[in-house]
Amino acid sequence: MKDGFEVTPYKVSGDIDYDELVDRFGTKKIDGALIERFARHGPVHAMLRRGVFYSHRDLDWILDEHEKGNGFTLYTGRGPSGPIHIGHTMPWMFAKYLQDTFKAKMWFQLTDDEKFMFYDHLTLEDTKKWGYENALDIIALGFDPKLTNIFLDTEYIKTMYPTAVRAAKKINFSTIRAVFGFDNSNNIGSIFFTSIQTVPCFLESMLQDRNVPCLIPCGIDQDPHFRVTRDIAEGLGFYKPALVHAKLMPSLAGSEKMSTSTNLNDTIFMTDDEDTARKKVMNAFTGGRVSVEEQRRMGGEPDICSIYQYNLYHFEPDDSKLAQLRSDCKSGSIMCGECKGQLFEKIWTFLRKHQDEREKAKDRIEDFFIRD
Ligand code: TRP
Repeated sequence: MKDGFEVTPYKVSGDIDYDELVDRFGTKKIDGALIERFARHGPVHAMLRRGVFYSHRDLDWILDEHEKGNGFTLYTGRGPSGPIHIGHTMPWMFAKYLQDTFKAKMWFQLTDDEKFMFYDHLTLEDTKKWGYENALDIIALGFDPKLTNIFLDTEYIKTMYPTAVRAAKKINFSTIRAVFGFDNSNNIGSIFFTSIQTVPCFLESMLQDRNVPCLIPCGIDQDPHFRVTRDIAEGLGFYKPALVHAKLMPSLAGSEKMSTSTNLNDTIFMTDDEDTARKKVMNAFTGGRVSVEEQRRMGGEPDICSIYQYNLYHFEPDDSKLAQLRSDCKSGSIMCGECKGQLFEKIWTFLRKHQDEREKAKDRIEDFFIRD
């Protein structure tokens, strides 16, 4: 592990220093001036104000193109390897905000091929099944069916394949090995795969037969794929895709990325029932002290607290209420039990609505899916 932490699409470990990651990856931090530009187009999303989406490539160019009336398209994706949890939905809610604010079309890729190639325990039938399951959660978040195309790689491959092979011809194994940390034991499908993740950057341009700028909202762990894409895009006759990067949602155990592969109890799934979700929140890691007495005296530590992070990332959208919570925590006037109870109420309100919408989405799949 280099300098204590590692971030690639296939491995996230250690204590991530997000500022250092911007230097390592060569991206730019989103600054006040860029946020001001957003404010001209609509409300500035809490995830932008609070630095959850904190890094970018060419986001200023996307706003230029939009302001010139040229428009842009959005692209994001999901590797369907299991159920959706709250951490997955954060960047998607931001993506929906971008769609609403800029009336932009969204290409949503489900990489059933990728998850099959990277996980020994999954068959291609499994990843396809998870793709359709996960699509219900995506639809439930409220994307506009007229502006959203969801597709499984294996069901849209005829359209994508010619561009994928053109991309693949421009990418060396040595690049892939360095960018993704692969070695000679990786199967050859995983080596080829990034060319499939590249193609949706260009789908709108292919469809319209003119160059359309593309903006990708994603977790910063996905940036390496698009670094490769950006190096070859112009050689293929397309614009380089622009990106806006999110920090990775912390788990309830306080570690940096909420993951289905760690402890299931530290992860709230979108289909968890009320009792299950409550138990997970109540057992979460906090920034509390060893005793109530000590906490009243010394105050809690919001910056290491998973409950506070959940409020910061999404569940307390009101900045002044968040500031109040922070100061109540630090002064020792609110205890962890009460704070967890409040968060649970917000989470359950969100989950209950999501579960309703998810049921309705079962009849709406065909409004969103495209196949060739
Ligand atoms: N590879 C991503 C994953 O494993 C899925 C994905 C495909 C994606 N295309 C994307 C994520 C574009 C963000 C943006 O989750």
